[in-house]
Amino acid sequence: MITRHFVDRQKLQEFHPFTRLRDLLGATPPGKSPLKDGAPINLSIGEPQSQPPAFVAEEITKAAADWSRYPLSKGTPDYLEACTSWMEKRYNLPKGMVDPSKHLLGVPGTREGLFMTALTVLPNPKQGEDAPVFLTPNPCYHVYTGAAAAAGAEVVTVNATRESGYLPDYTQVPEEILQRTALCVLCSPSNPEGAVADPQKVRDLIALARKYDFVVAFDECYAEIYTGSPPHSAIETASDLGGDLSNILIFHSLSKRSSAAGLRCGFIAGDDKWISMINTTCQVGGAGVPIPVQNAGTRLWQDEDHVIENRARYQENFRLAQEILGNSVPVEIPAGGFCLWLDVGNGVEVTSKLWQEAGIRVMPGAYMSHMDETGVTPGDRYIRLALVYDAEYMAIALKRIKEILSQFIPTLGAHGEKGDTA
Ligand SMILES: Cc1ncc(COP(=O)(O)O)c(C=O)c1O
Repeated sequence: MITRHFVDRQKLQEFHPFTRLRDLLGATPPGKSPLKDGAPINLSIGEPQSQPPAFVAEEITKAAADWSRYPLSKGTPDYLEACTSWMEKRYNLPKGMVDPSKHLLGVPGTREGLFMTALTVLPNPKQGEDAPVFLTPNPCYHVYTGAAAAAGAEVVTVNATRESGYLPDYTQVPEEILQRTALCVLCSPSNPEGAVADPQKVRDLIALARKYDFVVAFDECYAEIYTGSPPHSAIETASDLGGDLSNILIFHSLSKRSSAAGLRCGFIAGDDKWISMINTTCQVGGAGVPIPVQNAGTRLWQDEDHVIENRARYQENFRLAQEILGNSVPVEIPAGGFCLWLDVGNGVEVTSKLWQEAGIRVMPGAYMSHMDETGVTPGDRYIRLALVYDAEYMAIALKRIKEILSQFIPTLGAHGEKGDTA
């Protein structure tokens, strides 16, 4: 299902999921939480709850003299080199394919990177008088739509459903829209579903982008959090195709990989023409990444031990979710990310129920999705649970969720033998 939207940039709150969630639950006091201290449990936000390694604070302290300096716009040479080496190792790239002086740009995070990219890449009309088109999955991370709105684009959403493997199929978009498309996002592992795009899907999308001359923003911020084999990256496809990075931008950050969302440290890799232009946009209106933060980021990209530990923690949480929820609701353990996308029949009602009964805050799928003309969204049946706490905490929360789901949606009991893998 393909739906077209013009989003009023002065009405971003209409699709901002956390504003909508506050409106839904704000007036209702939380029910009795299962935690000993009775504190509400927040599973609505994908914010890692473990700490980054101690060397982050050490690096920042060591570079204290640099707080007086403006950050270099592209990134320090050490930081860009560390990002390049990480990509080369992680994706087995030939040396020299990614040139840090041309193909990389340090940004505070994928959020800022994507926003600045939309402002840069989305032109005034691409063809004729019509606004340029921004293609995005539905449901999606809300920043995509916000960025498109800020840039004055028409947002065309492509549903990501169980039937489509929880990823959008952009090859189905009508030619008339592809001709006006200037930017398209593919998130893999995807938020909220945790689906991973296979090499063929990435290859088809790159071919489409080159045919119709649009840019694909591959949001790979969950690349290091996975349950099976490491997710494929668009940079591997580019390498297989001979190393050409034209029409491709890939977004990474330390927020999920290193549990360092507050550090604000990431990068964009790809097409040198666009990297240079996005850099200019950042120079004009961006905050840049402070030098002490880049020093800490350099160490984090060089270290794998903490990432292996992080990944194991999330894998254990998924195992628990399968074990605890498995009989009350169909659990699909995702290939990547740390969120569970649960089909509960009516996501908004279940969200209210979990809050009223147990002080557990989750995100209704509808609030991450866009409506079609009939008022339906592909997220209506779902809730998203961010499994970001330690296993003991998660087990307490999941057991209480199971009790509530079992009372509230007794018919779902019939599904629950064993979940499959998305
Ligand atoms: C899909 C997706 N992309 C990007 C981001 C932004 O992350 P950051 O800017 O911290 O890298 C998030 C954060 O939750 C996300 O879920």
